Amino acid sequence: MKAIVLNEAGGIDKLTYQDIEKPILKSGEILVKVKDIGMNPMDVHIRSNEQILTMFMGSDRPVILGWDISGDVVEKADDVTDFKIGDAVFGATMGKGYAEYVATKTDRFVRKPANITYQEAAALPVVGITAWEALVVLGKVKKGDKVLIHAGSGGVGHIAIQLAKHLGAKVIATSSAKNRDFILSLGADQHIDYTTENFYEVLSDIDFVLDPLGGETRIQSVDVVKKGGIIVSIVPLNFEEAQKNAQEKGINLIILRGQGNKEEMESLAGLLSKGIIKPHVTAVYPFAQMKEAHLAIESKRTVGKIVVEL
Ligand SMILES: NC(=O)c1ccc[n+]([C@@H]2O[C@H](COP(=O)([O-])OP(=O)(O)OC[C@H]3O[C@@H](n4cnc5c(N)ncnc54)[C@H](OP(=O)(O)O)[C@@H]3O)[C@@H](O)[C@H]2O)c1
Repeated sequence: MKAIVLNEAGGIDKLTYQDIEKPILKSGEILVKVKDIGMNPMDVHIRSNEQILTMFMGSDRPVILGWDISGDVVEKADDVTDFKIGDAVFGATMGKGYAEYVATKTDRFVRKPANITYQEAAALPVVGITAWEALVVLGKVKKGDKVLIHAGSGGVGHIAIQLAKHLGAKVIATSSAKNRDFILSLGADQHIDYTTENFYEVLSDIDFVLDPLGGETRIQSVDVVKKGGIIVSIVPLNFEEAQKNAQEKGINLIILRGQGNKEEMESLAGLLSKGIIKPHVTAVYPFAQMKEAHLAIESKRTVGKIVVEL
């Protein structure tokens, strides 16, 4: 089968096309014929840094990257009862996604609702799980809460805006001016262009912040949250200063590393099927252009999600 393997971390030239054996199913696994692969910044972080690559994938080489996939079940292990052959599915597999066929556990996989495309389905798992765990599990965002979503035009942000609106929050989201209309079209009540306006000078009494940026943005976010409020940051680096400031103000700053599980994926699929959330796929690359897809993610300027199609 066609696959893209990595023998070592580095630039996009390390993404190597290769014909390899189709995976053999283990107990508890389904074999998915992949239609689309959802791209995430983690694909780039892991591809480019040997230490991060080893942390996520272990020390065996070559490895196959790729987390979010959609496709059809073409085989299943005897002990798999939650799927049948022919099911259209989507979910998060732990690596292995850049391939024609993926053998995966089913614990983060669910059936694709009929009203969404394979591309939209592949775009959702990692960002959907992250937004869900941030807003629902940790933030317990509720009706009337004032919610600030940084990078609202990004993968995580654009789902988080839709989810926060569904939960009944008043939503303020940041991006540059070119993504203002996109953010408002997702239901945000207010947009802040971070290139011309300092959010920390115009906002106050925020109940919940989603921080996909870290750095100064995370530190400045502490200034706009009310006592007892919550910041969920999904950048697990250099958060000590922000955490110290948050503690002093009685704000709960939580660093989230999204995990995901079947129940969360089922909840997300339910929202997709009702049209309550929709992943916005703004670019589709053929499998032969995986390197270009990596460059697009690396630019940090993509809007919504980009997917790679087999
Ligand atoms: N911990 C976890 O479980 C977890 C899970 C998923 C993602 N992440 C991490 O979260 C981060 C975001 O992921 P993502 O998929 O949402 O990223 P993304 O899709 O690459 O985000 C791109 C968007 O960010 C916006 N942006 C960039 N700088 C900004 C700024 N200073 N202020 C406001 N908006 C800004 C851009 O809009 P403009 O072009 O308008 O600036 C662009 O639309 C990544 O570092 C990723 O690795 C962590």
